[in-house]
Amino acid sequence: MDKKAAVIGAGNVGATAAMRLAEKELADVVLIDILEGVPAGKALDLMEAAPIEKHDAKVAGVSGDYGAAEGADIVIITAGIPRKPGMSRDDLLSTNMGIMRSVTEQIAKVAPEAVLIIVSNPLDAMCHVAYETSGFPKNRVIGMAGVLDSARFRTFIAMELGVSVENTHAFVLGGHGDTMVPLPRYSTVAGIPITELLSPERIEALVDRTRNGGAEIVGLLKTGSAYYAPASAAVEMAEAILKDKKKILPCAALLQGEYGIKDLFIGVPVKLGAGGAEEIIQIRLTDEEQAALNHSADAVRKLVEDVKRLSA
Ligand code: APR
Repeated sequence: MDKKAAVIGAGNVGATAAMRLAEKELADVVLIDILEGVPAGKALDLMEAAPIEKHDAKVAGVSGDYGAAEGADIVIITAGIPRKPGMSRDDLLSTNMGIMRSVTEQIAKVAPEAVLIIVSNPLDAMCHVAYETSGFPKNRVIGMAGVLDSARFRTFIAMELGVSVENTHAFVLGGHGDTMVPLPRYSTVAGIPITELLSPERIEALVDRTRNGGAEIVGLLKTGSAYYAPASAAVEMAEAILKDKKKILPCAALLQGEYGIKDLFIGVPVKLGAGGAEEIIQIRLTDEEQAALNHSADAVRKLVEDVKRLSA
């Protein structure tokens, strides 16, 4: 392939993202993890699936050697640990912060022109850490949250109305958490706003399920969090960038006054192309929607302050 992708963290999300990148022949893929053997083993397993899946993308896996990511066009960062029993949110934040810092430091050295797609949680805070550590311009640090949250909303809309998911379109703004802001007015089925098709009560129920989409999966899996849809979402963003598609997707991007918010990564519609986040699209919000976005921004700001407090 003429493009190169590095996926950091060869766990559930990372390995699934590597699989989708390779199967879509978007890039050759390097999987990097701190674990010995695991990235190499998963990469070899994926290569052995290639004759059956009919792709010629190369997948390599290495432990700790960031040299393998040299010159990568895109880097998807999924490294991190999930919350374990007895751990506070601060414990998780400080551990993942340390991991994100060490990963981006090394990536910035070997792939200084890459676009970073951040997946590790807590997402919006991790975007800040990656942005500050890498020193990359804001257009090349983008968080994956809105594509996943919108896909969940689309899934529930399609299930509710018994229509193809392909007919659905949805927009979810804000932080990746309880305060996310699904926008029913801009969510459509075959171009028809769902506000014309569903009662306010049913819409509220779908919005609620979307907000709790991550927790619903954790509750079922018990030993981890969602990974098929998160990997699909990260790869949709990677595809838009690698193919310079100029595709508008909801992503966490650094706002500098757009939507009245400053110096904060938060989910908004972004045009993705070869330059990464090439443009932040401003849509008109009602007072109620803007208030919900501000509320979400407050929650993200609090997390970012926690990052600063824990780094002090
Ligand atoms: N460098 C590289 N890889 C690391 C590092 C590090 N410093 N620290 C941890 N890892 C690796 C782990 O060894 C593990 O293989 O990150 C991987 C994480 O994989 P999983 O535990 O399977 O987690 P996953 O489900 O993939 O989620 C990854 O994405 O959706 C988010 O909340 C989720 O933050 C989590 C991340």
